[in-house]
Amino acid sequence: MPPTLTDDIRQAYLDFFEVKNHAVIPGTSLIPENDPTVLFTTAGMHPLVPYLLGEPHPEGQRLASCQKCVRTQDIDEVGDESHLTFFEMLGNWSLGDYFKEEAIQLSFEFFTEILEIPLQKLAITCFAGDKDAPKDEESANIWKKFGIPSERIGFLPKKDNWWGPAGKTGPCGPDTEMFYWIGEGNPKGNPATHPPSSGSGQASDWLEIWNDVFMQYNKNVDGIFTSLKQKNVDTGMGLERVAQVLQGVESVYETDRMKPIFKVIQDCVVSGSTPLTMTRHIRIIVDHLKAATFIIADGVEPSNVDRGYILRRLIRRAIRSAKQLGIKTNGSFCPDVADVIHLEYLSVYPELNYKLDEIFNILKKEEQQFHQTLTEGLKHFKKMSGPIDGITAFHLYDTYGFPLELTKELAAEKGQTVDEAGFAKAFEEHQKLSRKGAEKKFAGGLADHSAETTKLHTATHLLNAALRKVLGNHVQQKGSNITAERLRFDFNHPDKLTPEQIKEVEHLVNDAIKKNEPVSYHITTVDGAKKEGAIGVFDERYGQEVKVYVVGDGTFSKEICGGPHVARTGMIGTFKIIKEESSSAGIRRIKAVVEGGPEEIDVAKEEQRA
Ligand code: SER
Repeated sequence: MPPTLTDDIRQAYLDFFEVKNHAVIPGTSLIPENDPTVLFTTAGMHPLVPYLLGEPHPEGQRLASCQKCVRTQDIDEVGDESHLTFFEMLGNWSLGDYFKEEAIQLSFEFFTEILEIPLQKLAITCFAGDKDAPKDEESANIWKKFGIPSERIGFLPKKDNWWGPAGKTGPCGPDTEMFYWIGEGNPKGNPATHPPSSGSGQASDWLEIWNDVFMQYNKNVDGIFTSLKQKNVDTGMGLERVAQVLQGVESVYETDRMKPIFKVIQDCVVSGSTPLTMTRHIRIIVDHLKAATFIIADGVEPSNVDRGYILRRLIRRAIRSAKQLGIKTNGSFCPDVADVIHLEYLSVYPELNYKLDEIFNILKKEEQQFHQTLTEGLKHFKKMSGPIDGITAFHLYDTYGFPLELTKELAAEKGQTVDEAGFAKAFEEHQKLSRKGAEKKFAGGLADHSAETTKLHTATHLLNAALRKVLGNHVQQKGSNITAERLRFDFNHPDKLTPEQIKEVEHLVNDAIKKNEPVSYHITTVDGAKKEGAIGVFDERYGQEVKVYVVGDGTFSKEICGGPHVARTGMIGTFKIIKEESSSAGIRRIKAVVEGGPEEIDVAKEEQRA
């Protein structure tokens, strides 16, 4: 029997690729490490960027994982059958190992032999070709060889059948996408003749479920595509969507792990909205609170900037939808929903359990605070007279969280009119702006591995080691963020550092730089790393095999890390702490820069042990 339950599909996928000699690596946090250009992990390939660019991975050239992802660019689509801001992506990778033939063969085999999906329900799209890369006849022919008829294979342009770079620069390439027929009656044509639902927002008969990307190009800052030294495969399958089609249900929200969350919200609904709007609002609540729960579990708190702001908006959008359904939201609604989310996912994501109190407290506080804001909005509203123009209605929505329906209802009670078209226009303007903001955030290119960030990365290891020497071995990394300009390092320590301590830390780091120590890594197990005294963020999930980066003979710094790092400490330049401050209770934050190192650097290689 093929798997149909979400947990079984996830396991079947990882087992299948393990048998096919892939190392199953753990998914990472939703907060990308050392990547200032994106707010959240958006794909399984995201933590693998250094390895797609050629850095050796400690577990080899064939990898597979299940990665939790957050994508907010489709947030307005959430509420339909298949769009989500939080989802799980199953993926397999070849880092310079197999390419098109074997990648497609693996996808085909998993579909037909493990999931037992009937061939006639599948359709494929391939890249149509343009000035940057030729038409991908090769992939189409491989699919045909496996029995996919020509009429089920469509060719689409870059907009559809090209993936990446996730930012402005980085690895990318043509892709071949796999679709499942969810329309009525017999399957018709292919997604090129029957447009797919993804992106367009309109319902379609073909649902995209898997994507094999052939990452053979690197896009540089001038927009030029050059061939990568290493040809990679990067695939991504949407677990919720596969569960939807295998369970034969109409939407991702009716799949086994999502349905109980839907149900608990449905049970709270008191006011009679039309079944269609009710379903849409419940779906929004399910998706947004699921995203919020996982984001909080990975250490984010609501705020007015960056990740915290997205988190706040997700929670508030969920509460707005709850209000539309007449659900009481003064502090316990979001935690109650989060409790069900936690029960559904805790066996796969134990962080939900460790962080449960935090999840409850943060959601409760945010819900109460939003309630307060709405109450203030009401006071403000009462003072308004005359017709309500679009900008004012939008202000009530954006600042005080008033859904348009609420404004309309309150206005009607006082005999006022609301300019709905004006509201829609103001809403659209705002969305355009926030989309631009999101694009800007993405525009730096995924995980910048320039000389500057590499120097700062090694400097971070030296800083970590120096802090432990000066302040004590209780010091542990609690966060790290590197841009091309500076490093930022969070660690636990109860007190503010004295000027003398700061000087001493700087001195120790610069001393290690002056010695021009070689930096190298070796591959070992997590236990092996612990035994040899390497430090690491042990509350993170590491794979079976890890890289340990060693400076000199390792007495000063030895740390578990993915790299890359400079080959010799002398390449770092001069290290300088520019700020030491509190980050949160018991956590200090240091910002530091490096100056005067060479522009070109070599990266640290694997140590060849005798
Ligand atoms: N990176 C590709 C995607 O996100 C395949 O994983 O679709």
